[in-house]
Amino acid sequence: MSALKTREQWGSKLGFILAAMGSAVGLGNIWRFSYVAGESGGAAFLLIYIACIIAIGIPILMAEFSIGRRAQSDVVGSFETIAPGKPWVLAGFLGVASAFIILSFYGVIAGWSLHYFLQYFTGGPAAGEAGGYGDYFVNFISSPIQPLFWQFLFMALTIAIVYGGIKKGIEMWNKILMPALAILVIGLAIYSLTLGGAGEAMSFLFSPDWSAFSDPAVYLAALGQAFFSLSLGMGALITYGSYLSKKETLPSAAVSVASLDTLFAIIAGIMIFPVVFAFGISPDSGPGLVFIALPEIFAEMNGGLIFGFLFFFLLSAAAITSGVSLLEVAVAYFMRRFEWSRKKAAVIIGTIIFLIGIPSSLGNGVLNNVRIGGLEILDAADFLASNIFLPLGGLMIALFVGWGWKKTDALRESDFGDTTIGHLWVFVLRFIAPVMIMLVFLNAIGIF
Ligand code: PFF
Repeated sequence: MSALKTREQWGSKLGFILAAMGSAVGLGNIWRFSYVAGESGGAAFLLIYIACIIAIGIPILMAEFSIGRRAQSDVVGSFETIAPGKPWVLAGFLGVASAFIILSFYGVIAGWSLHYFLQYFTGGPAAGEAGGYGDYFVNFISSPIQPLFWQFLFMALTIAIVYGGIKKGIEMWNKILMPALAILVIGLAIYSLTLGGAGEAMSFLFSPDWSAFSDPAVYLAALGQAFFSLSLGMGALITYGSYLSKKETLPSAAVSVASLDTLFAIIAGIMIFPVVFAFGISPDSGPGLVFIALPEIFAEMNGGLIFGFLFFFLLSAAAITSGVSLLEVAVAYFMRRFEWSRKKAAVIIGTIIFLIGIPSSLGNGVLNNVRIGGLEILDAADFLASNIFLPLGGLMIALFVGWGWKKTDALRESDFGDTTIGHLWVFVLRFIAPVMIMLVFLNAIGIF
């Protein structure tokens, strides 16, 4: 049997959609969305973010699904199969590199979430005397060993699922955990609105400060967040699409994944910002925002310990389903390229990524004097991967399908066929998305 015939596949279309949702919905929607929105001025950021999702995100998501299903290979192999000997394969290597970088720091944050989960299991984190939960958080992340232990545990769980394979590992978990997380976040958002910071939070999130629109950094942050949150630009969705049989239809899957992901982020914002304002936490507190704000809600609530426990359990689970898709990008590549077994690839690559993540973790403590481009190690890794590599990868993917494929092929492979929306999609990939991404880049470096 040829290698192609033995590749794994999803059990059903629903399984595929849920896994893609599981990849999209993760720390990005709750942890990253809230702190990036908080730092980038709230409503103006949200508007630009939504524009990026619609004009760039969904079309590129469709492009990734189409490439993956057509090529039935990993991110590098997909470009090699469809366009042998052409430079497009660079997008594939960039994707594998992004998977290493993103998962290296993603594991650190997910480890924090696992730690909080266990804290709620055993009585909740203790608020520091004067500094509230901020003190607790800073003490925890700056200790050298503890966060590494939790990061290690997260990586071990992620490796175990990838090790288990596509159907029994990834698909099953998503079906159970995603709906539970959605219900909990909605419930917490409603509760949070009763805490007294609701008015300020709503205007922060929904009534834009127009001056923010002239800040190039806000556009770059929104673009990066759109790519990060949709798991776009590095072939996670090419890889997932490659386990899809040829007969499924793609556009409805793409729209459901993008809508759910965006809704999740907005509701998470409605959950977090009222607390931020009610407790006088600064919205631009950075990556610690949810870990400082949410314990305040749980401390206020009846049964807060249980809610805290459930919340951090589900957040950790959401992080795992995303972490799995990050690891799968690299694992699928190494399995094909070096003929490694899935088990070997999962363990070796997962371990290397854990090791690469150690400096990101220590950057909050023993290495906190180290700055890369003015940023702490973790933030610098995030900035490089999310704001540069992912949009750049997305740009290449858009150009590849827009210009590298014959239009009739692109229309057929996407299931759009010869429809108006299909033609619009190709037009967006050819012109709109690449031009917008370029403008955001040029704007950010001050050329435009
Ligand atoms: N989309 C994930 C999140 O929002 O947490 C993170 C992510 C997963 C980014 C997979 C990129 C990726 F390929």
